Amino acid sequence: MAAEPLRIALAGLGTVGGGVIRLLTANGALIARRAGRPIEIVAVSARDRGKDRGVDLSRFAWEDDLALLAQRDDVDIVVELIGGSDGPALALARRTLGLGKGLVTANKAMIAHHGMELAGAAESANAPLKFEAAVAGGIPVIKGLREGAAANALTRIYGILNGTCNYILSTMEDTGRDFADVLKEAQALGYAEADPAFDIEGTDAAHKLAILAAIGFGAGVAFDQVEVDGITRIRAADIARAQALGYVIRLIGMAECEEGGTRMFQRVQPCLVPRSHPLAAVDGATNAVVAEGNFSGRLLFQGAGAGDGPTASAVVADLIDIARGDAGPPFSVPVAELEPLAAADGATRTGRAYLRFIVADRPGVLAEITAAMRDAGVSIESLIQQGQAAEGGEVLVAMVTHEGPERAVAHALELLRESPSLARPPLVLRLID
Ligand code: NAP
Ligand code: HSE
Repeated sequence: MAAEPLRIALAGLGTVGGGVIRLLTANGALIARRAGRPIEIVAVSARDRGKDRGVDLSRFAWEDDLALLAQRDDVDIVVELIGGSDGPALALARRTLGLGKGLVTANKAMIAHHGMELAGAAESANAPLKFEAAVAGGIPVIKGLREGAAANALTRIYGILNGTCNYILSTMEDTGRDFADVLKEAQALGYAEADPAFDIEGTDAAHKLAILAAIGFGAGVAFDQVEVDGITRIRAADIARAQALGYVIRLIGMAECEEGGTRMFQRVQPCLVPRSHPLAAVDGATNAVVAEGNFSGRLLFQGAGAGDGPTASAVVADLIDIARGDAGPPFSVPVAELEPLAAADGATRTGRAYLRFIVADRPGVLAEITAAMRDAGVSIESLIQQGQAAEGGEVLVAMVTHEGPERAVAHALELLRESPSLARPPLVLRLID
């Protein structure tokens, strides 16, 4: 007798939803063999029924009402591909798990904000909740941490977690093109969030980092603890300065388990990465995640971080797991046993920094900046001042510090805060060595 299909409802028919339909259509037979049974879309929903999506929807029932979509008797699993931390996506997720049905989602914002609640509901209902596509697109990094690295205590997880930012930074570096122009291209390619501010301000990478840290460290999701800075203040001149110094600029998310596993540090910010580092070669919408385990050593996961095909691949991998009967706690450890970790104090950290100032082009300005560095105890390794500006113009001064406390750099900037010589707030990027 043929095995019963796993019957799914698809909510959201945009970039990822369209990709899921195309993937299940193209690879249906091999997926059925690997899953042990067919995976069939039964019903779909989106806002606009009349929109041409380039896929044949006539095979599926259409539901305008998301609550009715979840309630259908012929639906086993709901796949949420709408997006947004709250609103219709969260209502659908709660409804689905409340009905005791499984949920697959690519929605990192929702998991970062409500993951604990939803995982608790899934565990109570004994229903699967899976979100591989929420982190790093097509890379099976959640599976890698939950399963492949499950025997290890992880101490650090870091990497490139946002395809849009990486596409912008690496394209600007390769072509010298303008930020806004490259962002538009990333949107057209389906990499960006519906509101791209989530990408370029670092929030999307922070959502993903908080999810990875929770899984990797056995901690509760602590999105509010992530220090976040995006790429909006990076100029072509910073990329050129970094190149001249032997670095590239990448948006890096980094989580560390500190003080014997009692505290956690999480930060997303653009960093200078030496050209010889494996992350420096990661370009376009590619993502890469490094996880350091106490027995495995350093693990590197790399692949396409955004776009319809790679993200659909991760969504369908979750469905195959469910079809095979693999459930398990969504965050690897049951919610009740996840240990909330306090935030580590970022000010106690040390490192090297790139500092960039846009200053008035007049005598004494450089002396004022270097005096503030001296008074705060910041040691300067190298300094570049752009050629002379037009009279009354502004010039760019960039410097790299020696290794030292981050709080000393913060103190120097505080000393310069009211200075009339600074035309804009300074930019501080950390160096990864
Ligand atoms: P998208 O292209 O904007 O598609 C969103 C879909 O949701 C659209 O089909 C839209 O309907 C539908 N929708 C919006 N509000 C709705 C509502 N109230 N009721 C029913 N349907 C509604 O977004 P996407 O890029 O596919 O992203 C979907 C999710 O995947 C997001 O959580 C995103 O963060 C995540 N994700 C995306 C990528 C990527 O590369 N794009 C990668 C990983 C994860 P209409 O089409 O009718 O407007
Ligand atoms: N907007 C996200 C990115 C999609 O650019 O990485 C993948 O999560």
